[in-house]
Amino acid sequence: MKKVQFTETVLRDANQSLIATRLPYDKFEPILETIDQAGFYSAEVWGGATFDVCLRFLNEDPWERLRKIRAKMPNTKLQMLLRGQNILGYKHYSDDIVRRFVRASVRNGIDIIRIFDALNDVNNLKVAIEETVQSGAIASGAISYTTSPVHTLEKYVQIVKEMKQMGVSSVCIKDMAGILSPKNAYDLVSAIKDAVDLPVVMHTHCTTGLAFMTYLKAVEAGADVLDTAISPFSGGTSQPATETLAFALRELGYQVDLDDDKLFQIATYFKPVRAEFLKAGTLNPISLTTDTQCLTYQIPGGMLSNLLSQLKSLNALDKFDEALLETPRVRKDMGYPPLVTPTSQLIGTQAVQNVLAGERYKNVGAELKAYCRGEYGRTPAPIDPEVRAKILNGEQPIQGRYADSLPKDIYEKTAEKLGDTARCEEDVLSYIAFPQVAEKFFAERKALEEKKVRYSIRPVEEG
Ligand code: CO
Repeated sequence: MKKVQFTETVLRDANQSLIATRLPYDKFEPILETIDQAGFYSAEVWGGATFDVCLRFLNEDPWERLRKIRAKMPNTKLQMLLRGQNILGYKHYSDDIVRRFVRASVRNGIDIIRIFDALNDVNNLKVAIEETVQSGAIASGAISYTTSPVHTLEKYVQIVKEMKQMGVSSVCIKDMAGILSPKNAYDLVSAIKDAVDLPVVMHTHCTTGLAFMTYLKAVEAGADVLDTAISPFSGGTSQPATETLAFALRELGYQVDLDDDKLFQIATYFKPVRAEFLKAGTLNPISLTTDTQCLTYQIPGGMLSNLLSQLKSLNALDKFDEALLETPRVRKDMGYPPLVTPTSQLIGTQAVQNVLAGERYKNVGAELKAYCRGEYGRTPAPIDPEVRAKILNGEQPIQGRYADSLPKDIYEKTAEKLGDTARCEEDVLSYIAFPQVAEKFFAERKALEEKKVRYSIRPVEEG
């Protein structure tokens, strides 16, 4: 009997996709032990936007959150999502920082690091994969799935082979926009299974409504692990429901080692949590609907809403249709990058600029300039030479890897600058990833501690 395993995403991707990662630790602490006993292959609990949001909005130390989860979940592999050379931020860091970040993640409790690059440039995965393996954790190499004339099966297989060479223990097909169709999933998993002897993990979103069918065809082609979310946090822009897939696959004769009782308890726990966020407006009913526009425009749902809000803030909603048509053109000029953080923002913003200016590439943001200089890595297809020349305006693109050109002593310099404010290596890394946000967090942490000290000595003072 073929076994299918599950990765539960409620604490990371489902949390991120449906409620902008706003789930505080206290809200899920009581259910961690049950999740730990449910029989998941792994639980995705960290990385992605969780780190930034912990510091920025929840006043939580992300490292401490990870340690607390680890303590409550000794039996299940804890998984995180890492943006390769970008770690958890939006630009490239030096190799030393990437290595330190990976080591700290493993030291604080991570077992599996899923590593992806927005451009699928394997040079941006290499250091993170190498360090993950050296730290004794499991490296899972992810393909950022997209469709374009250059994203052929052969190209994907080539990427997988290179990732295998680098030491990954599994391959993840990461379909961030929910555009992977059942047929393409079947073909892609088959091609990967033919080429390498590695477990294949499927990741998609329900955005376009394809997800359940896509997973079924992927399993038929030999996929080993599925990313799913417990039912109250499933569907819409999140993952397909864990219980539904467990039920359907079992009925079809697959071995599913999940404890239904525990799944029921987890779902029961999260139902009122979901209702609370729905009532507060954090969970927008729009993100729960099926949106087939992405299939036509090949634009992820999140990008569409960004496009809308950008145009709205510029009082130019009448340009929406034009911007919608301009987006794939900019993407083509830029060498068909997959539309995922941070490239989706680059492409979307430039499409809006082009439409508003009435001239293409008249106004170009600093990030897209950096992209054209090569600071994000090798693009899937070459950037249109004319467009590139116009944007760079005489500047020369960089040679080789951008990370190699970065200063090697950022960590030491930052640690020195922070002094006592940083209490451990983790604090320094938080600051390097998100300087202003971390600074605010450190100040609030200190204020809170001083308050606690005052309260604790007051009874003594009062006798
Ligand atoms: Co995702």
